[in-house]
Amino acid sequence: MQQPVFSLTISSPTNIALIKYWGKRDAKINLPINSSVSVTLNQRDLRTVTTVSASRSFSRDRLWLNGEEEDVNASRRVLAVFREVRARAGDLRDPKTGQVLVRKDEWDGLRVWVVSENNFPTAAGLASSAAGYAALTFALSKLYGLPDSLADELSCIARMGSGSACRSLAGGFVAWDMGQRADGVDSRARQVADEAHWPELQVLVLVVSDTKKTVSSTAGMQTSVDTSPLLAHRAAAVVPGRLAEMEAAYQSRDFGKVAELMMRDSNQFHATCLDTYPPVFYMNDASRAIVRMVHALNEAAGETVCGYTFDAGPNAVLLTLKRHLPTVLAAANTHFPPKRPVEATLASESLLAALKSTPLPPKLSSLYPLAPMRGAVSYIYHTDVGPGAMLLPDSESLAGEDGTPLRL
Ligand code: DP6
Repeated sequence: MQQPVFSLTISSPTNIALIKYWGKRDAKINLPINSSVSVTLNQRDLRTVTTVSASRSFSRDRLWLNGEEEDVNASRRVLAVFREVRARAGDLRDPKTGQVLVRKDEWDGLRVWVVSENNFPTAAGLASSAAGYAALTFALSKLYGLPDSLADELSCIARMGSGSACRSLAGGFVAWDMGQRADGVDSRARQVADEAHWPELQVLVLVVSDTKKTVSSTAGMQTSVDTSPLLAHRAAAVVPGRLAEMEAAYQSRDFGKVAELMMRDSNQFHATCLDTYPPVFYMNDASRAIVRMVHALNEAAGETVCGYTFDAGPNAVLLTLKRHLPTVLAAANTHFPPKRPVEATLASESLLAALKSTPLPPKLSSLYPLAPMRGAVSYIYHTDVGPGAMLLPDSESLAGEDGTPLRL
């Protein structure tokens, strides 16, 4: 007889670190050599949606990512998230009636199918592992009836999936405290300010065209730990002070300070990559041109209107304020005209209108005299700071009533 399928759907955002995590002191459970801090990007624009279904009819766990089935047992990280959530399983209750659907002691007889999709191109390298593992952790925790009081443990479980994922469970401005303990229970994320704290703050993502496969963060940071003296110095002597300054600047909404600290930290992270032996290159010519343009723009504007940061890839993430957004967008669009015109990727009509009517600061052309790099950027996304992982209504489910993906 066909057994019932219990299913729920959640979404999770990605995040961008303003002070970077780079290097592990324990690679098995992703314990970092330094604390880090990030902003959570709005899931209205960039998100992972995950549906999890459990049933006695399923004979094994299964996982589909962006329409492709993956072998659950091939990923140590996926197995770790399943194992840790299962170890804390409680009763699954119907969210509407409160009726117990699966009792705590019945879980052994049920297997789980996971269907997960990103609404942004994984190949664009927009921290899909952070959104993905935060989504898997959060979805399984809801399915297995983990109480909200286990939020700190959830953070540790997401961290075991991918270090940066622990910062995607919460919204706003989120620190990941490195912790000191060998078992990692104190290495977890902490929300510093929620998404309502600084609505002026805006984000532009310049997806830089690049077909080359980069060295994964996991592999790159391991080589850095093994070979870069600059990384050890950064973790011990630079990051702690910088984090304290960054938290204070964000709390007081000091944009000039936040922008300077994020740019310095991105530059230092990429310097440690260059100091890695053999070196790892994540930024390319377009990335470096964006850096030069942003510094020229800030100088031409006579104040800091924009900051940049680059993760383990060539894409630029720019922070700005609402009142400077048309200027920054106009500068990006003029000097890096994207392959997909901004009219196709910007949702806001008023922003497009502002973009057209906003002149560039007159001094920019002499401070940044380079010819436009046409096509070096594939698209420009606009977003802002948003909330953490959340439950979605059943109408957003990615799976049919039998638990299989609706879209394959
Ligand atoms: C450059 O979290 O992807 O984005 O823990 O091995 O999964 P693993 O690495 P990951 O590394 C992210 C590195 C970074 C900086 C950051 O997000 O802090």
